[in-house]
Amino acid sequence: MIDLRSDTKTKPTEAMRQAMAEAEVGDDVDREDPTVNKLEAVAAELLGKETGLLVTSGTQGNIVSLLSLTESGQKLILEQDAHMFHYERGGVARLAGLMVHTLPGRYGTMDPEEVETAIWPDEIHRAPTGAVALENTHNRAGGTCLSVGHTNDICEIAHRHGVPVHIDGARIFDAAVALGVEARELVADADSVTFCLSKSLGAPVGSVICGEAAFITRAREYRKILGGGMRQAGIIAAAGLVALEQELPRLHEDHQKARRVAEVLAALPGVRLDLATVQTNMVLFELHRDDVTAMQLCERLAGYDINAKPRSEVEIRFVLHRDISFSDTERVCVALEEVLGRGN
Ligand SMILES: Cc1ncc(COP(=O)(O)O)c(C=O)c1O
Repeated sequence: MIDLRSDTKTKPTEAMRQAMAEAEVGDDVDREDPTVNKLEAVAAELLGKETGLLVTSGTQGNIVSLLSLTESGQKLILEQDAHMFHYERGGVARLAGLMVHTLPGRYGTMDPEEVETAIWPDEIHRAPTGAVALENTHNRAGGTCLSVGHTNDICEIAHRHGVPVHIDGARIFDAAVALGVEARELVADADSVTFCLSKSLGAPVGSVICGEAAFITRAREYRKILGGGMRQAGIIAAAGLVALEQELPRLHEDHQKARRVAEVLAALPGVRLDLATVQTNMVLFELHRDDVTAMQLCERLAGYDINAKPRSEVEIRFVLHRDISFSDTERVCVALEEVLGRGN
């Protein structure tokens, strides 16, 4: 089965399973797990931050970061299609007590002037702004990248007003590869960043928060409160280290596969696809046909052993990843041409 639904569907590689079986472990709550300590150090080095903290998931990384950066009753400025706004069960409101102020984005990028205007002046009627959060790559925009310049601009504005910036970098390494920059450049001015081991990097579980030491000390406390102290977590970290060593250098291949599928799709009748959004491992498109709906397309693809899911009545997102080879990618292209090649 070729699973196009998400890069979260990847299975751990043989090298990951081997590393997990052989991992040296200890009690990570007491910081005694050498493999976790190593992963946190490697992650911090890659992102140019003082230190790192292994957490269970991207969602936990985001909420722990925001709990650590803000106070209840403050405001969080977010792009309106942010993962944190749509898909994290309202955790920032429920657990961190943050009021969310969303702003429109273009390819996931907010207008810096609008961000500055949204940081309301400090007066009796207004909620103070606790943080600005960015998402790179931007999931709902189709895996688009926020540039170094844009990120620096937002950080400069926020910091000028004394507001910290968090980056939800679930797929930050995809952005770095696509933009041809180091990941550390993309987060240089941010106060916190989380990235996921379990998405395009292909590990089975885990995310890492990176930031300065004082911030990570607070984050470690919140991780404990949320039940994220995992004891012999070295078995998770071991797979994460393999992911950073072996999978990071091949992320560009997923981008090539996504581009190939996107170009085939864009030429098919009734497909609306903005090729400018195809920057990393995702292909987001709409299907406008009388003879086949987005749901029916997915049903027909199942007949080709391809697993896909519509995101709305007309919208579908495909994600290319390590478990989809280049020849699988060609099979996807052939199937799409067969199903959509004829008709209106
Ligand atoms: C941009 C982004 N942030 C956060 C998450 C949450 O990660 P998790 O599913 O590990 O909680 C995801 C998940 O897909 C994501 O795409």
